[in-house]
Amino acid sequence: MTALLETHNLSLRFGGVNALSDVSLSIEENSLHAIIGPNGAGKTSLFNCLTGYYKPTSGTVSFRGADITRMSAAGVASLGIRRTFQNIRVFPKMTVLENVLAGAHLRANSNLLSIIVGTPGFRASERDLHEYAMTSLEFVGLGEQATKFAGDLPYGMRKRMELARALIADPKLVLLDEPAAGVSSVEREELSRVIGRIHDNGISVALIEHDVELVMGIATDVTVLDNGRIIASGRPYDVRNNPDVIRAYMGRSRK
Ligand SMILES: Nc1ncnc2c1ncn2[C@@H]1O[C@H](COP(=O)(O)OP(=O)(O)OP(=O)(O)O)[C@@H](O)[C@H]1O
Ligand SMILES: [Mg+2]
Repeated sequence: MTALLETHNLSLRFGGVNALSDVSLSIEENSLHAIIGPNGAGKTSLFNCLTGYYKPTSGTVSFRGADITRMSAAGVASLGIRRTFQNIRVFPKMTVLENVLAGAHLRANSNLLSIIVGTPGFRASERDLHEYAMTSLEFVGLGEQATKFAGDLPYGMRKRMELARALIADPKLVLLDEPAAGVSSVEREELSRVIGRIHDNGISVALIEHDVELVMGIATDVTVLDNGRIIASGRPYDVRNNPDVIRAYMGRSRK
């Protein structure tokens, strides 16, 4: 197995809070790597460090062996590492298609077109982009919603729209921060299927998710964070039966 994205002793401090402490993990090529852990464990902070939104206090992040620790968010995106956010980011008065094209989650000083056009081996015109956006929307089952206002979509569909937005730039790796949080059980199943399909299409996935059943059903690897530290990692079955994990996380969440 080859490491796609790796961290080495990643630490992140906010004043007196250690959001991450010595986190070393490896997201392998073609894996669906779930990151689980209680609220405040550091999961989102980890994604922020992996995608250039936060600079770690110490430690390194590397992508295919190259150091990207200090790279900007736009730079990381241009490598084919795309993400969604825990808090939904939608332009309600724009159409679903326009939302996918907007890449709203990238920093204000970048724009999606230049990022995609700038991706090595990937040159696209604006018309191509339109087509890629439609393909992404169809992939997540929202082809027929393309011309609707995003604000009119039910919440679960908006979450899928965010997946489409992450998929448009032909990513190598997508990082999904609680894509199924707060959605109905029907939408949850649909999202779970879409995430499985992303993985089946050769895109590696890192997935933050609180629903342990969902994670255990689709993940190839699981890392458990608690208080900014990795307390367990491995195959889903092993992690699930790890007493530290049951104590720190599953025991609490299942009560
Ligand atoms: N920008 C910030 N400024 C100050 N503290 C922060 C910041 N971002 C995160 N933290 C702190 O870092 C710790 C980890 O937070 P983080 O959001 O990464 O947890 P999480 O595992 O994603 O939690 P949740 O499951 O609730 O989303 C928390 O104590 C949080 O308050
Ligand atoms: Mg979070």
